[in-house]
Amino acid sequence: MTAAAPASQDILKPHLEIQGGNRLQGELRVSGAKNSALVLMTAALLTEDTLTLSNVPPLTDIDGMESILVSMGVKVRRSSETIHLQASDLTSAEPPYELVNGLRASFFAIGSILARMGHAKVPLPGGCRIGARPVVEHIRGLKALGAVVTVEHGVVSATVPGDRKRLKGASIVLDCPSVGATETILMAASLAKGTSVIENAAQEPEVQDLANLLNAMGARISGAGGPSITVEGVERLHGCDYTVIPDRIEAGTFLLAAAITRSTMRIAPVVPDHLNSVLQKLRDCGCVLEFDGDGIVITPGTIKGIDITTQPFPGFPTDLQAPFMALLATAQGTSVITEKIYENRMQHVGELQRMGAAIRVQGNAAVVEGVPSLSGAPVNGTDLRASAAMVLAGLVAKGRTQVSGLNHLDRGYAGIEAKLTASGAKLERHCS
Ligand code: EPU
Repeated sequence: MTAAAPASQDILKPHLEIQGGNRLQGELRVSGAKNSALVLMTAALLTEDTLTLSNVPPLTDIDGMESILVSMGVKVRRSSETIHLQASDLTSAEPPYELVNGLRASFFAIGSILARMGHAKVPLPGGCRIGARPVVEHIRGLKALGAVVTVEHGVVSATVPGDRKRLKGASIVLDCPSVGATETILMAASLAKGTSVIENAAQEPEVQDLANLLNAMGARISGAGGPSITVEGVERLHGCDYTVIPDRIEAGTFLLAAAITRSTMRIAPVVPDHLNSVLQKLRDCGCVLEFDGDGIVITPGTIKGIDITTQPFPGFPTDLQAPFMALLATAQGTSVITEKIYENRMQHVGELQRMGAAIRVQGNAAVVEGVPSLSGAPVNGTDLRASAAMVLAGLVAKGRTQVSGLNHLDRGYAGIEAKLTASGAKLERHCS
């Protein structure tokens, strides 16, 4: 693969300008988990009462989900990182395409809209840069629960037949442990009549977080976090106050920021069990990790090449594949990184090459020959995690790096430049 020069208009776009080569110090604070918070917000549709979520990260994706819920009649109040959601008077079961498009988690709301209102019409989320990302399993799950589902003109329409408009518990074996399908089915099954069992369920911490929230709202869910989840449907759910878990992907990105700049840092708050596979890979490549209360102190040694294969949780997360590749581009020796979740999540390779990384792609694997140093360049973050990888590379590169694609970065990293600047990094946002 050869590195293409960026179009001149790309450099004029909003970008982060990073002066590389500075050691970091102190602590990087981890915000609440984006992928949890987004789905937890849609659980508000399951009750007339107020749901209060704290530790909600201030991200553009959260703003997008807020707009979607408001368009359906949900009353939303937000202050700092707390959000109050009240869905007592829902006015629509049809979130509009303009809002849903590009925010995949909003499709998962189809489970809660259907369970609460008896019908739902949600536009298909479509593919994205990293892969086709079908929602076949979500739809299969809703059908198993008794919904009649049609897909026409890019919109999924689901209705619950019968007078009582209540879904029926069912056994569902997922073809693949899809996070979104598991979450969609969990929300729908919570208000169904009878018991549901989801086999080959996703085991990601965000699924556990959703199950914990639903249980706090009066649901009866057991087994979340394992491959088989049982949901005894209840007639109604009530409001509650709930705190979103820390973002394991942001935490992993910050651990990598320390590792790539060869800086000793504390990253907190972290739930180590959410990051075991990542922590193991950090140790394997030469970092020393110490747990202290709710944080991890990382001390990088000489970084050596290692092999990584992405897998569903508890395996190594695809969302840290690109950021980890940035680190391994600076390691001693060769690494092989294999992407098993998405068919098109190697677009950051060309951008890292622009910075002097020696990487070649072979099918779904990247062979990374570590180089002694990267050099700053204008680069584009092609998706959320690719843009995080560019920031990491920029922190250690010689000279200046301009990272564009901030619309992606801002979806998942709350105040990243403020956090990194406070730790000694030199970076500035330019709006044009
Ligand atoms: N898949 C199917 N059929 C389906 C559903 C999924 O083949 O019906 C495949 C997908 O194509 C993909 C794999 O299964 O290859 C995993 O997809 P999954 O459904 O588990 O992903 P998701 O729920 O759409 C969430 C996160 C992603 C994260 C994945 C995997 C949210 C909003 N998104 O997506 O996060 O990569 O799980 O862990 O929760 C990110 O934050 O950058 C991000 C992309």
